[in-house]
Amino acid sequence: MEFRHLGRSGLMVSEISYGNWITHGSQVEEDAAKECVKAALDEGITTFDTADVYAGTKAEEVLGRALKGVRRESLEIFTKVYWPTGSGPNDRGLSRKHITESINGSLRRLQTDYVDLYQAHRFDYETPLEETLKTFDDLVRQGKVLYVGVSEWTADQIAQALKIADQMGFDRLVSNQPQYSMLWRVIEAEVVPLCQNEGLSQIVWSPIAQGILTGKYLPGQPPPAGSRATDPTGGGFISRMLGNDVLTRVQDLKPIAADLGLTMAQLAVAWVLQNPNVASAIVGATKPEQVRDNVKASGVKLDAEVMKKIDDVLGPIVERDPAKTVSPEKRP
Ligand SMILES: NC(=O)c1ccc[n+]([C@@H]2O[C@H](COP(=O)([O-])OP(=O)(O)OC[C@H]3O[C@@H](n4cnc5c(N)ncnc54)[C@H](OP(=O)(O)O)[C@@H]3O)[C@@H](O)[C@H]2O)c1
Repeated sequence: MEFRHLGRSGLMVSEISYGNWITHGSQVEEDAAKECVKAALDEGITTFDTADVYAGTKAEEVLGRALKGVRRESLEIFTKVYWPTGSGPNDRGLSRKHITESINGSLRRLQTDYVDLYQAHRFDYETPLEETLKTFDDLVRQGKVLYVGVSEWTADQIAQALKIADQMGFDRLVSNQPQYSMLWRVIEAEVVPLCQNEGLSQIVWSPIAQGILTGKYLPGQPPPAGSRATDPTGGGFISRMLGNDVLTRVQDLKPIAADLGLTMAQLAVAWVLQNPNVASAIVGATKPEQVRDNVKASGVKLDAEVMKKIDDVLGPIVERDPAKTVSPEKRP
């Protein structure tokens, strides 16, 4: 496993990390979740990503139990706040009240005194940015959070936050967590250039496009049994990308992966890691063998010719519009 700096900070993260959205506390049983975490640790993954909202807070509990007994200093644990964790108007968003309450819940569920990275899971238009950033800064001073970042923020939103942090002397953001894959490149035009200049990294989610880039979803055929597309929760998220044009073109990537001696999943993860602004690719997995497959993308170099072949195959299905980075106008 290779490691990269998180933004301009001194923190190192494993360039492949393990995330438990959809899976822990939902799609897979506790034993399978623990086996995936064990496989991740055995393969050298040290960075784990979760969120207060995943599986209605159960995902953090499962991860906390799965990591119990592992030397805390050998791990980087990331979580997030914003999406609803209860039915009340204050159980959501980035207010001082919700952030303060949510981090305490996350620490309890994860069975740890601090998280390495705390991320604003979306931009909250209903809370002054100063209030959020001051609260994040307070958590850093209290030692509950070591570094702060955001997820799915636009370049303008990140720039505003950095300006306020610099004016007020608050701890600076070190990372953004966007969706990024061969198929979804909306950060490249604006977010990545800003972050490169300002010393923030991307920690990217769904690098395998939720399983689509493995090539296991075949055009015109029902999804494979047990895959995310057949899961009641996951199915809703992945269905947007299951069109025949996407699936057909993804099949055409198979010879490129085969020529390189890579599996399709490895090619997909290696592709995002070619971007030097990416600190880590967060992979999900329902089975330990998927983790063992995906980690082999660490250290793989893809040359310009391969990158061009991939672009030629995918053609117009690649999404590049920076306007697709959006947070809800009203809190959910
Ligand atoms: N910040 C955000 O808003 C946000 C949003 C989404 C995700 N995330 C983070 O990113 C993490 C990863 O997201 P993701 O789970 O969508 O990532 P992904 O790695 O693109 O997809 C993971 C899923 O693909 C399938 N898969 C993975 N490797 C495979 C392999 N080698 N062979 C066959 N199938 C394979 C598995 O699903 P099946 O076995 O069920 O098919 C697995 O659960 C999340 O856990 C979370 O930490 C963040």
